[in-house]
Amino acid sequence: MKVTGAFLEELGEAMKREMTKGGPMEAIKVCAELAPEIANRLSRENGWRVTRVGTRVRNPLLGMPDAWEQRVLEKFVARAAKGETFAVMRHGEVVSEPGGQYYRFMKPIPIQPKCLLCHGPIETMPESIKTILQQHYPFDAATGYQVGDLRGAVSIKQPLGQQNR
Ligand code: HEC
Repeated sequence: MKVTGAFLEELGEAMKREMTKGGPMEAIKVCAELAPEIANRLSRENGWRVTRVGTRVRNPLLGMPDAWEQRVLEKFVARAAKGETFAVMRHGEVVSEPGGQYYRFMKPIPIQPKCLLCHGPIETMPESIKTILQQHYPFDAATGYQVGDLRGAVSIKQPLGQQNR
């Protein structure tokens, strides 16, 4: 699934650009606006659901994993504990649901140093970021991560049996 890699690459580049040029307030928009925008576009263009889910969640609407996604996130963490790196990890599976069969696919999103500003320990967060996050996400659980932790995954859900181009 090239889509997942391209999605993460585009986000990573935008984040780097905004952190150096635009500053943290512009960088927030990369995660809060650009990421859902790309996911939305990829979903429409491909006829699949493309989204990002978190191991701990800031925006429940977009980021909360379903039961299958939760199990895969746990498997990713277990695989990492055995020495596999998140960078090369994938999980794909055909899943039967009441509505039919789906091909489901996930690719891990690890925490990099540049993510810590907004997902790292609250104690080390700049006041300006802390204030904005608390204002917009009073139920934020997506903090306290360390570099190398599993932040979440890109998750794709493709209906099978429909006509795909
Ligand atoms: C400048 C602040 C900021 C930085 C830096 C940042 N994020 Fe985020 N992140 C956010 C905000 C705000 C949201 C909530 C987005 C929304 O409202 O949908 C979010 C949401 C997410 C989500 C969706 C799941 C959830 O909890 O809602 C993932 C996954 C994620 N970020 C990963 C990352 C990764 C990986 C990095 C580093 C490459 C990163 N973020 C860097 C601010 C940031």
